[in-house]
Amino acid sequence: MNTIFCNADTANIEQAAQLLRQGEIVGLPTETVYGIAADARNGEAVSKIFVAKGRPQDNPLIVHIADMSMLDGLVSKVPERAQLLAAAFWPGPLTIIMPRGKEVAAECCAGLDSVGIRMPSHPVVRAVIQASGCALAAPSANLSGSPSPTTARDVLADMDGRLPMIVDGGDCQVGVESTVISIIGEHPVLLRPGHITLEQLEAALGEEVIISGAILEKLKDGEVARSPGMKYKHYAPKADITILKGSFDQYKAYVEAHRDENPACLCFTGEDEKLDFPCICYGKEGDGNDQAFHLFRCLRALDEQGDGVVYARCPAVDGASMAVYNRLIRAAAFRVIEL
Ligand code: TXA
Ligand code: MG
Repeated sequence: MNTIFCNADTANIEQAAQLLRQGEIVGLPTETVYGIAADARNGEAVSKIFVAKGRPQDNPLIVHIADMSMLDGLVSKVPERAQLLAAAFWPGPLTIIMPRGKEVAAECCAGLDSVGIRMPSHPVVRAVIQASGCALAAPSANLSGSPSPTTARDVLADMDGRLPMIVDGGDCQVGVESTVISIIGEHPVLLRPGHITLEQLEAALGEEVIISGAILEKLKDGEVARSPGMKYKHYAPKADITILKGSFDQYKAYVEAHRDENPACLCFTGEDEKLDFPCICYGKEGDGNDQAFHLFRCLRALDEQGDGVVYARCPAVDGASMAVYNRLIRAAAFRVIEL
């Protein structure tokens, strides 16, 4: 298949919309990461996403809408908590798991009776949703197991020849995937941390939000992931990454003591000047949003350097950094050393 790689002018947005209406899949920018979109009401179209990504069928997709009226038929009801969250954070990087409606293709939901809905803020995906009239099922546009794409070039690197069109809408400003919250059970549960923080969710809801077990550590043997995506070893780079938890001086001493491994450093901005090893800086220390913007770019850059030993500085575990920590421990296959 020939992949059209194009900018987001009006004609290209119309062509993307037409492909989607015809049951095709298209690579599109959102404010978080790039996605591969299909008409969420068309099961055959949605199946093509799984084939293109090599994604396990039991991992459900997020459905993207442009306005609240599109919820009709996608969810069986809009619970009060969803209304509070939508008013506070939509359009934006928040996915809300709600009771599933009749019109969502079964292929989106992996047999669950719930569906994840998100109203993105990126003007290009919003324009395509409006032009097509379709709610769009869209996972991140990477091959299953590689880092989520934050530029259209990243999508092309993974997906060239696997879909008919990729629309370039510039760099994704958030850089990690949306926050996912379930409001189905008795208490709201954070299933995936993102730019919208736990503290912000609790403030909007006026109640405690439980952090799902798989977010900050590995699932124990036999433990069931509440969000199917959490059970996979995501974002796996070629290098062997180990996270070192401690001060910069402790980090530097540890890496120097392991010089014989020819390590590379995944460190904070500016620290490369104080380390005499190959370094990739993944953002400012203490600035979770800056780290989120850079993280997947850096993991892709690491992959280009091939395999080898990498020691990573440890981000904070709370606030906007929780999303970064959550992605990085997966990239590191949960290897964290306390210094
Ligand atoms: O920012 C994002 O959310 C991006 C852009 C493209 O919008 N999309 C994205 O999709 O990250 P994906 O498929 O890579 O991640 C969706 C996550 C998975 O971890 C999946 O298991 C979870 O959401 N999920 C989807 N539907 C669910 C449901 N009904 N119940 C529980 N978890 C669900
Ligand atoms: Mg993904």
